[in-house]
Amino acid sequence: MATGHEKIETNIGLMIALIIIVVSIGGLVQIVPLFFQHSTTQPVDGLEPYTPLQLAGRDVYVREGCYLCHSQMIRPFRAETERYGHYSVAGEFVYDRPFLWGSKRTGPDLHRVGGRYSDEWHRVHLINPRDVVPESIMPGYPWLEETPADATHITRKLEVLRMLGAPYTDEQIAGAPQALEGKTEMDAMIAYLQNMGLAIKTRR
Ligand code: HEC
Repeated sequence: MATGHEKIETNIGLMIALIIIVVSIGGLVQIVPLFFQHSTTQPVDGLEPYTPLQLAGRDVYVREGCYLCHSQMIRPFRAETERYGHYSVAGEFVYDRPFLWGSKRTGPDLHRVGGRYSDEWHRVHLINPRDVVPESIMPGYPWLEETPADATHITRKLEVLRMLGAPYTDEQIAGAPQALEGKTEMDAMIAYLQNMGLAIKTRR
C-alpha cells in the first residue's frame, strides 16, 4: 500500500495543491508582519514637520518641476555618500507628502543640500545659475523673487498634514498665514532648500 508521501509524489495535482499551500504560508509569514511593523514610518530623531514657509517653498519646488532634474534620494553607495553625505533613510520622509525622491539627475541630488550654501548663494543661483556656476545648464527662476508666497490654502494644508500624522500644534496652524506674510516664493524656496536633509547630516 502506498504511503502518504508516495501518494503525493505520484499525484501531480495533489502535489501542486500542497506546494501552493506551503508557499502561501511562507509568504504570509513574511508579508503579514509588515502591516503591523511601524519602523519604516517612524520619523528619525530630530525630524520636524515642515514650517509653513518651508511647505510653501516645497509647493513651488513641485510647481516648477525641480524634481525633474534633481533627486532627493542618496543611495547607500560609496560614490554617493562621498559626494552628497549620509545616504537617505525612510524615517526622513515621513512628513513628505508626496515624497520627491525623483528618478533623474540632470543636476546633483539635493537631499543634503541644507546648510551647504548661504541663503544669498541660493538667491543668486536661483535667479541666474550662471552667475555662480558658469557652466550650469540649470534654468533661472527670477520670478520667484517677485512673486509673494501663496498663503491661500496654507492653514488647510497644515490641517490635512496633521490629519495624516504630522504633529502640528493648534498655534502653528493658526499662525501659518502670518508666517508667510511679506515673504516671496524665493524666501519660501530657500527655507525649504536650507532645511533639506538636516535631520541626518554627517558630512565629512
Ligand atoms: C534642467 C534641469 C534642472 C532644473 C529644472 C533645475 N535644476 Fe537645479 N541644477 C541643475 C544642474 C545641472 C545643476 C548643477 C550646476 C549648478 O549648480 O547650477 C543644478 C544645481 C542646483 C543646486 C546646487 C546643488 C549643489 O549641491 O551644488 C540647487 C540648490 C538647485 N539646483 C536647485 C534647483 C531648484 C530649487 C530648482 C527648481 C526651482 C531646480 N534646481 C531646477 C539642473 C536643473
